[in-house]
Amino acid sequence: MEIKHGQLTTSWGAPVGDNQNSMTAGSRGPTLIQDVHLLEKLAHFNRERVPERVVHAKGAGAHGYFEVTHDVSSYTKADFLSEVGKRTPLFIRFSTVAGELGSADTVRDPRGFAVKFYTAEGNYDLVGNNTPVFFIRDAIKFPDFIHTQKRHPQTHLKNPNAVWDFWSLSPESLHQVSILMSDRGIPATLRHMHGYGSHTFKWVNADGQGVWVKYHFKTEQGVKNLDVELAAKLAGENPDYHIEDLFQAIEKGDFPAWKLYVQIMPLEDADTYRFDPFDVTKVWSQKDYPLIEVGRMVLDRNPQNYFAEVEQATFSPGAFVPGIEASPDKMLQGRLFAYADAHRYRVGTNHNTLPINKPVTEVNNNQRDGQMRYDRNGGSSMYYEPNSYNGATESAAYKTATFEVSGSADSVSYDHHDHYTQPGDLYRLLSAEERGRLVNNIVNAMKPVEKDEIKLRQIAHFYKADPEWGNAVATGLGLRNMETLFY
Ligand code: HEM
Repeated sequence: MEIKHGQLTTSWGAPVGDNQNSMTAGSRGPTLIQDVHLLEKLAHFNRERVPERVVHAKGAGAHGYFEVTHDVSSYTKADFLSEVGKRTPLFIRFSTVAGELGSADTVRDPRGFAVKFYTAEGNYDLVGNNTPVFFIRDAIKFPDFIHTQKRHPQTHLKNPNAVWDFWSLSPESLHQVSILMSDRGIPATLRHMHGYGSHTFKWVNADGQGVWVKYHFKTEQGVKNLDVELAAKLAGENPDYHIEDLFQAIEKGDFPAWKLYVQIMPLEDADTYRFDPFDVTKVWSQKDYPLIEVGRMVLDRNPQNYFAEVEQATFSPGAFVPGIEASPDKMLQGRLFAYADAHRYRVGTNHNTLPINKPVTEVNNNQRDGQMRYDRNGGSSMYYEPNSYNGATESAAYKTATFEVSGSADSVSYDHHDHYTQPGDLYRLLSAEERGRLVNNIVNAMKPVEKDEIKLRQIAHFYKADPEWGNAVATGLGLRNMETLFY
């Protein structure tokens, strides 16, 4: 008899006779090893978890589309940006950074903003945050930085000493710390925040001419943040507040949307700009490089299955399409390696063949086999190149644009060290109330730090950005007025 729709089966497709009682010798037992359905059920359950993301573990995802509203074809030949009105399906995953998979949503943390565009020329992943800058500017510092955000190896507690020790010893973090400690550090919902590509990327047009580009997604819902008391209350009462909000909004048909803008910098300006434009701890002035509108992103469909779509989604800053390329940003360069490596470990060698990650284009590579190769594995098609059997061939038109490199190989930092002008400008832009809340958030976060040495070193950074700011934090922490401390 054929298996009927709705009939419970084993994983090998045979009908299950009893799913409530295991097979025992007599009504008391012991249980028989012959009950293979029981063995299979217990064994599969033991393997339900894959490793959570080492950062950005807790997240929410949604499907949607991107529609081009302005012609940017003079800057990039990317097919999905080629004409006004063109729509491209996409999947987005928002996340917190430091917490585990089950951690609370309404914490002070940057938010991940990772978009996968399923374009006609392959998947393009833009793996950004809700902040335009980052804490560090060299990939070599990332594992140390993240260690300070995670739990202490002995106590398994979060460790404010480590957090402020590292930040105070890494002054390049000041800009991102300022944003994190401001009202924007706890967004009201995932719908009420902007998104940024953060890094500088390269766009290349059909004539092979390049420009440097930065991405800004502006929320159409308006920016809204959570008051710290409410955020703490929600973290206890509904730790999944942000995930729930996004799901319910989409379910109700209240589709969130963002406008995408870019800043464009001529390639040659990179050599003369007042700081290195590849340094991800800096923003480019919008007076120098104004925002240019590109299109609109709308989220209009919830995932059907969290694990299959949100947990197994793999985003990589290295997933480029023709017309979009890397820049020499030292953080981006490290990320080009880190993500695909994480995916092979976390999801598996063939993670790209999973439905959520699979490009909508035909994939013709010579990769074969590997664990969980459940698709056709290339069937009987050619499996090496070059060959004399009409296998898939490379297309010279899609080569990466050539670029000049110069200088001596060395382990060196960017050669400018002004970590204070931009955070100071940000501080001075805030209203008196916003400055008050910023200082309060910093004071509360720094209070548990044990060593005065760490507190003073960090206060000095705030002071250098703006003396009023440094003094306010010093006063809040019950330390001496900075003027007397430094002069
Ligand atoms: C996730 C590494 C900097 C945004 C991850 C993951 C790794 C990682 C290993 C987990 C990937 C996975 O398991 O799927 C790094 C390294 C960095 C870096 C080595 C610096 C060198 C950044 C920066 C941003 C960022 C600067 C934003 C501008 C994200 C986002 C995710 C993520 C949004 C979550 C992606 C998702 O939703 O699956 N990062 N990261 N990271 N990272 Fe980074």
